[in-house]
Amino acid sequence: MKILFYDAKKYDVDSFEKARENFPDIQVEYLEADINKKTAVLAKGYDAICAFVNADLSKEILQVLSEQGVVLLLMRCAGFNNIDLEETRRLGMTVLRVPGYSPEAVAEQAMALALSVNRRIHKEYIKVRENNFSLEGLMGRNFYGKTAGIIGTGKIGAAMARICKGFGMKVIAYDKYPNKNLDFIQYMELEDVLKNSDLVSLHCPLTVDNYHMINAKTISLMKDDVVFVNTSRGELVDTEDLIAGIRNHKFHGVGLDVYEEETDNVFENREQEIMEHSVTARLLSFPNVIVTSHQAFFTEEALSAISNTTLENALGYEKGEINQANLV
Ligand code: NAI
Repeated sequence: MKILFYDAKKYDVDSFEKARENFPDIQVEYLEADINKKTAVLAKGYDAICAFVNADLSKEILQVLSEQGVVLLLMRCAGFNNIDLEETRRLGMTVLRVPGYSPEAVAEQAMALALSVNRRIHKEYIKVRENNFSLEGLMGRNFYGKTAGIIGTGKIGAAMARICKGFGMKVIAYDKYPNKNLDFIQYMELEDVLKNSDLVSLHCPLTVDNYHMINAKTISLMKDDVVFVNTSRGELVDTEDLIAGIRNHKFHGVGLDVYEEETDNVFENREQEIMEHSVTARLLSFPNVIVTSHQAFFTEEALSAISNTTLENALGYEKGEINQANLV
């Protein structure tokens, strides 16, 4: 099995090379470049490519890959909304992913964002470094005794729900398929979760029917001074409506690990560039907003699980023993 690994960062190479010690027959070549029309042709002679969540796996690129002989897409992530699945099926390509590498990694980042915006840690950090020890503008609120609303209670949402419970919060949730194992959660309709929560955290996948599920209408249902966190997918939120809500002082704080315009930013150092879009810049201009760069997954434990499962997926495919749970 020969795999061409796109968009390889040093931490990817380190983690995959360590995991590869247990998979000696799998060859991996690492490319710093991400996949695009020009780099897709480099996959000639490889059985599989390995890509990340923001990779462009649109129809056109998939066709180029297929022409090079690629039969397997190894996604080193859980999400797959970036892949044209109709086209992979038409081309007879198999797509395998890593559905649950470390739900706690993402949930802990969601809570870190919630706590940071609530207590203004991002402001405090800078103020104190400047010898400014005043408390002006730093007032937070206890999460203890408040209500957390979790949208989507799969692996990550369940982990977030457990963290919120540990903080002494009442946990309510909306999910199309309630998780019966989470007996401490009160399930209700989305509208009711939004109306009753002091902290709203998104943990559902992006699907055709929930694009912009957080919009002017659903934001208006939320409590005033709510803390809103999105570690799931940017397109779940209508960012213009979110910005309008922030401007109208609807939110006590907003923590975003994902946002609609992130694709060109994710994992890139763009320090020297002039930003061409205004959404990111506007989000960053608000004192009660924290944006991180799709890093919720980024823990040692998660990277190790991602590399091991990706290589297991490759081996399983080669042996004709595909892990159905990882098949997209
Ligand atoms: P999962 O598949 O275990 O759970 C998703 C849950 O959402 C399921 O219970 C499902 O019934 C529910 N759901 C589906 N559509 C819904 C809707 N319209 N409204 C409410 N609930 C709905 O997925 P998991 O592992 O918990 O991941 C959730 C999402 O987190 C992923 O789809 C991905 O978008 C995001 N993610 C973000 C990462 C990051 O680094 N920021 C890393 C990994 C995942």
